Amino acid sequence: MADLSTHFAGIESPNPFWVASGPPSNTAYQCHRAFEAGWGGVVWKTIGDPIVNVSSRYSAHNVNGQRMVGFNNIELISDRSPETNLREIKECADRWPEHAVIASLMTDTRENWHDLVKRSADAGAKGIELNFGCPHGMCERGMGSAVGQNPDVAETLVSWVMEAAEIPVIVKLTPNITDVTAAARAARRGGADAISLINTINSITQVDLDRLVPEPYVGGQSAHGGYCGPAVKPIALNMVQSCAADEDVRLPISGIGGIGTWRDAAEFLALGASSLQVCTAIMHYGFRIVEEMKEGLSDYLDSKGMATVGELVGKAAPTVNSWENLDLHYKRIAAIDYDKCIGCNLCYIACEDGAHQAIDLVAPGDRGNGPGRIEGKPIPEIVEEECVGCNLCSLVCPVDDCITMVDVETGKEELTWKQYGELLEQGKIDPIPAHP
Ligand SMILES: Cc1cc2nc3c(=O)[nH]c(=O)nc-3n(C[C@H](O)[C@H](O)[C@H](O)COP(=O)(O)O)c2cc1C
Ligand code: SF4
Ligand code: SF4
Repeated sequence: MADLSTHFAGIESPNPFWVASGPPSNTAYQCHRAFEAGWGGVVWKTIGDPIVNVSSRYSAHNVNGQRMVGFNNIELISDRSPETNLREIKECADRWPEHAVIASLMTDTRENWHDLVKRSADAGAKGIELNFGCPHGMCERGMGSAVGQNPDVAETLVSWVMEAAEIPVIVKLTPNITDVTAAARAARRGGADAISLINTINSITQVDLDRLVPEPYVGGQSAHGGYCGPAVKPIALNMVQSCAADEDVRLPISGIGGIGTWRDAAEFLALGASSLQVCTAIMHYGFRIVEEMKEGLSDYLDSKGMATVGELVGKAAPTVNSWENLDLHYKRIAAIDYDKCIGCNLCYIACEDGAHQAIDLVAPGDRGNGPGRIEGKPIPEIVEEECVGCNLCSLVCPVDDCITMVDVETGKEELTWKQYGELLEQGKIDPIPAHP
């Protein structure tokens, strides 16, 4: 069985699964529950000058009946005093010495940063996370994403923190920025030990069409909130990989954003994260989800012959290349498994109206017979010469593995756009004819 124990920038934890800073990490009671359920770490709800929250605070993006595909909040940092939070951090750190209790901090002046950093270490926190990412409420006060969006300011603040820090410092980055690697590089220049990403994305999830006010509703008004949950995973993966691949960042990465299953976790690890944080999925399903995540990740590592989590970290990151380096001569086309095809013809409509008119409807003939197919009803057939291998039909097909994409042997040598441009300029190659 694979070893899940995690060594992240000097912070040890029994597994890479940490509760992200947010409502599930607000109190010692929740921290105990999280560790009892099997989580490896808890990043405490951000500590700073206590704030006052509004009611209501959350809203959701539901898709075709599936709840909370995306989740939005206008909640601020902890509404409890630093004294209370740090006392409870101490209680948890004392009771769970093998686990990672990390203090998330947000404040303003150099003096205040020094003070909070020292008190966190005194409380027994194993590390500190700097919240440079909160996109609402705190940024109007010159904190949160207002810092994370300005690399120079972020670098200065990290350097202040490092003056006082005797435990590892993680900088949590905001995705509300054009190039997240600029902020990651600033964190490194400031002396940070690691980065974590992503915090929430600016958003409005829905408008109540009776009252004509967006949610969450606060006495006739609303505000831009932070978006998270399953819908943000692709954005988070993109940013984690960008930071992992950046030569000027080279810091351990704690991956956050839409993680809810072991598969999500494995994808973040493969793209360069070496610890993982979860908020929305816990708010939706509770701490118990970690059981399945640990078991699934462990089984996956076993199936790949990997003995530790570290062996997976970053394995897929180098395969993400810039477009100009992709092989123009690689080709794949769609293939239908007629024993699985239910004859819904969604693939036909998608290709006909939304892609390349490379699917015909033909008499079923003696092709296999998928379940529920209406006798005599025409079925799709791929016109191989027209198929550009865009994937669309395989994405819309409602039956798993019914349409697969198969490699085609073109007999041509690899040719990237970059090489093509150079050879064309040197007159060594004829232009590839435009598609008719
Ligand atoms: C209601 C709510 C409150 C949050 N509060 C904080 C916070 O105090 N500090 C912080 O760094 N991140 C906070 N976050 C952001 C999460 O830690 C996390 O970065 C984000 O939700 C993405 O992860 P997820 O998709 O697993 O939720 C909060 C998120 C939610 C949903
Ligand atoms: S979408 Fe899939 S199941 Fe439906 S007709 Fe096409 S191949 Fe068959
Ligand atoms: S892969 Fe694209 S072009 Fe080919 S059949 Fe499917 S939708 Fe049409």
